[in-house]
Amino acid sequence: MDIHENTPQHSVCLYFVVAVGLTVSPSRSQFFERESVTLKCEDHSSAGWTLRRNTTEETRTQCEEWGSADGLSCRISYIYPADSGVYWCESRGGGASSISVNISGSVILQSPVLPVMEGHDLTLSCQSQTPPSKPSAAFYKDGSLIRTEPTGHMTLQHVSRSDEGLYKCHISAHGESPSSWISVSGEELHYPGPQEPRPLH
Ligand SMILES: *[C@@H]1O[C@H](CO)[C@@H](O)[C@H](O)[C@H]1NC(C)=O
Ligand SMILES: *[C@@H]1O[C@H](CO)[C@@H](O)[C@H](O)[C@H]1NC(C)=O
Repeated sequence: MDIHENTPQHSVCLYFVVAVGLTVSPSRSQFFERESVTLKCEDHSSAGWTLRRNTTEETRTQCEEWGSADGLSCRISYIYPADSGVYWCESRGGGASSISVNISGSVILQSPVLPVMEGHDLTLSCQSQTPPSKPSAAFYKDGSLIRTEPTGHMTLQHVSRSDEGLYKCHISAHGESPSSWISVSGEELHYPGPQEPRPLH
C-alpha cells in the first residue's frame, strides 16, 4: 500500500496525512448534546470523497440521511447521543480516514482529533456544559487517576508512546466525560543529512 514500507517513520507520517482528510469543526471528538457540528472531507484530488458513518443503529449511511449536505461539508445542527459513532471519508479508490465521535450529557474531554507526534506537548481540557463553580478537574488514564488540575487543563510534556491510552475526566457535581483514545505517532521525521561514507571492510 505504501511505497515506503521499509521506512517506518515515513509510514507513520503518511497515516497522519491520511487522517487529515476529514476535518471536524469544532475540532474535537467529544461534543455536548445539541451542539452544532460540521464535518468535511478534504478533497485535494478529484477522487470524489463520500462522508459516511456507522452508529449503533446505522451502517455506512451518508450525510443526506442525518445531516445537511452542502458541497463537501456536512452539518449536524443538533447532535444527539444517537449520532455517536465512527465517521469517515471514503474515496472511490478506497482511501479512508475516520474519526469516532462521542456525545456527552454534560462534561467533555477536549483532546486532539489527530494523533499527537512523539515529543510534542499534549493539552487536555475538561469542560462542562454549564460553567462549574470550581473548574477543578480530575484526569484519568486507562481507569486510573493521573492528576487533578485546579484549572481544568492538563498538559503532558514531550509525550511518548507510553502516554497512549484511554483518557477521561471528571468535574465534581457535573460528572464524567466519555473516554477518548489518544494515540501518539512516531517521531517526527528528521531527514538524514547526506549519507556518511561507510567504512569498507
Ligand atoms: C462500518 O460498519 C461495517 C459493517 O459493520 C464495517 O464493515 C466497517 O468496517 C465499519 N466502518 C468503520 C470505519 O468502522
Ligand atoms: C467513545 O467512547 C467509547 C466508550 O467510552 C470509547 O471506547 C471511545 O474511545 C470513545 N471515542 C472517542 C473519540 O471519544
